[in-house]
Amino acid sequence: MLMETPWWRDAVVYEIYVRSFADASGDGVGDLPGIRQRLPYLAELGVDAIWLTPFYRSPMADGGYDVADYRDVDPLFGTLSDFDELVAEAHRLGLRVIVDIVPNHSSSAHEWFQAALRGEGRDRYIFQDGGESPPNNWQSTFSGPAWSKTPDGQWYLHLFAPEQPDFNWRNPEVHSEFLDVLRFWLDRGVDGFRIDVAMGLYKAEGLPDTPPEDQAFKAESPIWGRPEVHEVYRDWRKVLDSYEGERMAIGEVWTDSAEDLALYVRPDELHQSFNFAWLEAPWSGPAFKKIIDDTLAAVTAPTWVLSNHDVIRHVTRYGDGLTNSTTGLARARAALLAMLALPGSAYLYQGEELGLPEVKDLPPEARQDPIFARSKGELAGRDGCRVPIPWSGVAEPYGFSPEGTRPWLPQSVEWAALSAERQSNDPGSTLGFYQEALRARRELRGTLPDEIIWLDAPEDALIFSRGPLTCVINCGSEPVRLPPHDRVLIGSAPVEGHLLLPDTAAWLHTPEA
Ligand code: NOJ
Repeated sequence: MLMETPWWRDAVVYEIYVRSFADASGDGVGDLPGIRQRLPYLAELGVDAIWLTPFYRSPMADGGYDVADYRDVDPLFGTLSDFDELVAEAHRLGLRVIVDIVPNHSSSAHEWFQAALRGEGRDRYIFQDGGESPPNNWQSTFSGPAWSKTPDGQWYLHLFAPEQPDFNWRNPEVHSEFLDVLRFWLDRGVDGFRIDVAMGLYKAEGLPDTPPEDQAFKAESPIWGRPEVHEVYRDWRKVLDSYEGERMAIGEVWTDSAEDLALYVRPDELHQSFNFAWLEAPWSGPAFKKIIDDTLAAVTAPTWVLSNHDVIRHVTRYGDGLTNSTTGLARARAALLAMLALPGSAYLYQGEELGLPEVKDLPPEARQDPIFARSKGELAGRDGCRVPIPWSGVAEPYGFSPEGTRPWLPQSVEWAALSAERQSNDPGSTLGFYQEALRARRELRGTLPDEIIWLDAPEDALIFSRGPLTCVINCGSEPVRLPPHDRVLIGSAPVEGHLLLPDTAAWLHTPEA
């Protein structure tokens, strides 16, 4: 008998980008009541938990990742009672709720930053003298310098947009404030936190000039992943552990090393960290294999993710950038089966169950990601994966908003066949496939060993087994012979005979010897 595992260890978590999921109020922006109405859809899909992107008070300079008040809901998204009702209903349906927390920076509209601009409590942020030029050469992740000048001549650091000043985590007041914010939401019943820019927070003492290549997300950088950050998560873990019900935290940790990632999930720190390697990998058997091996060697509670609100949707990534590529969709479905067969937990991004591609033709005037404006249009930014979900109907707003409302980003005219309504009750649809795959995973839950065993496979295919489950994924251009099995549990496309076609994956059942 295998040991009982905590819920998050093998959970399937569904990321809800709140602005783009469902709009109940009719202002063109998704909201908490809209999510509540759609919870039965998620329960039927078969996920275990939802992760809500920030819904706190915010001027929305970065879609809510610029928080002005960490203890309130932005009126765009509803009220605190809407939040409480959402949590209660989710729990009634057996869904856990993870909320985003943004500790690296606040909004410039936050009362602390407003006070800092008036000269009070500047030490809660990173202010420096710099004269005519910024205090150092650090660049913002969103393009341009990471410093902006205040009217009195000092500069403040913002690793993202100027509207997102970085906190000074060397100030104990910042520490205690966030411990209190955690408790505020834990007391309201949340099951966990997704920690934004979890490897940020501390910057090297002295804020030294740094060669551009060391400013990227990497293990050895004066900007990211400083050792002091781990003390913060040790304190957070104590708070989480003081509540009943296995509350958890997952860090958004961008790094170039699996070993560095592992530091965040030491037993007294975070429960999980996102493993972004797959999100950045091309469609390639050897690349996938290396990611799986490196991850399993480095962490005991792995996570897997193929898409999120910051990257090009994987249907499009795998389709060589073509928006409506049938190859991209076939590969995305295959990758899902590989991901769900692995030990650990899987994070899905809203709309991937509908096979949504990236929207690449958004007009410049519609684009809202600060990356687009800050790079003067050179970088498209992330709006293309944030287009509101098509629920029903054949034209905008596709049931996302009430009829007659224009969603905050224009939806694709090609989405009529991709709506949730159109795909429901169709086992051949991508939605039907996701439901079936999640059901199959649930049926196997708790019965599979954590170890995977690699079986012989051609170079561009992967075959691995976990007990009676064998997963085969064919990333090559030739059919692959299936290993011995007594039945096919599920295929990303119909599996006939003993060959698995390119761009396809299957789960096989093998009786144990
Ligand atoms: C990571 C979030 O996922 C992204 O959307 C945001 O822009 C940055 N952190 C800054 O908060």
